[in-house]
Amino acid sequence: MNIPNNIRIKEVGPRDGLQNENGVLSTGDKIAWIDMLSLTGLPYIEITSFVHPKWIPPLADALEVAKGIKRKPGVTYAALVPNAKGLERALEGDIDEAAVFMSASETHNLKNINKTIDETLPVLKEVITEAIKAKRTARAYLSVVFGCPYEKAVPLDRIIRISETLFDMDICELSLGDTIGAANPVQVEIVLEALLKRFPKEKIAVHFHDTRGMALANMLTAMNMGITAFDGACGGLGGCPYAPGSSGNAATDDLIYMCAQMGIETGVDLGKLLKAARWVEEKMGRQLPSRNLQAAKSLGKLP
Ligand code: HMG
Ligand code: MG
Repeated sequence: MNIPNNIRIKEVGPRDGLQNENGVLSTGDKIAWIDMLSLTGLPYIEITSFVHPKWIPPLADALEVAKGIKRKPGVTYAALVPNAKGLERALEGDIDEAAVFMSASETHNLKNINKTIDETLPVLKEVITEAIKAKRTARAYLSVVFGCPYEKAVPLDRIIRISETLFDMDICELSLGDTIGAANPVQVEIVLEALLKRFPKEKIAVHFHDTRGMALANMLTAMNMGITAFDGACGGLGGCPYAPGSSGNAATDDLIYMCAQMGIETGVDLGKLLKAARWVEEKMGRQLPSRNLQAAKSLGKLP
């Protein structure tokens, strides 16, 4: 296997993990959780989303969260940004990186952001350009790359065409979203093989949801192909309200455990991350999907 010496983990729990959880965590709880995550060694946290609050009510407090957290030097604090209005609010919240997003299928794009693919591209270009002008970076997500809940298979040539357009806009990284957890390792290899012929591996990240228990296998496949940036959510929280069937993200806890066992450096303290997962699990009032969290609890390894 081609195993990297180290990987970069992008923690998306406070955004992807909470966008589907109505009214469960208070603003103060979200801030406390992000502050805990900041102390685990994670290099990157997507803290919230500056989308329309009517579309995603659980993250309507985005600005209070962005203003309330204690920033640890060296950590990148990112937020999801759909358009110029969102960027205005995100900059008021002093985010380091704007994460723009769109889908590789017309139907999911329309349901999620109310625009066709062609209508979306200029909107994202404006956000990316203005973010860079404001001395921030811009990352892009391409959703439903490995399967759409409405259109099923998504043509590879469309994925390539949109990726090229987004890279031409000067994004610093493209995160390939398996929004509904439909991907398998062979498919991951096919998609990455096509993209890695065109774009540097350092600029591609993967974002797997674990709906069918395939996230770790898919991440390992991506790692084997040279990918070193992985999105994950503490505790395995997550899901997109506009993608039926989408459930938790790859659990950051499980990814870190796997890397530690394999000698791959992540810079994250698994014990501290599990405590943050346990804390949010208690707030949620239900068992979270992370296998390592459940194992640590049953072995009495968490207070
Ligand atoms: P729209 O209704 O088409 O917006 O929504 P509009 O541009 O027509 O504007 C309508 C009104 O909304 C205007 O107000 C705007 O100012 C206001 P009015 O003039 O009528 O008073 N408005 C806003 N207000 C606050 N913040 C904003 C904003 N934008 C417009 N940013 C929009 C379009 C994109 C805003 C909406 O569809 C939306 O917010 N969608 C977000 C859906 C979402 O967050 N989905 C989940 C995240 S994606 C995901 O989970 C996938 C990912 O994890 C990767 C993967 O798993 O694949 C990233
Ligand atoms: Mg997602």
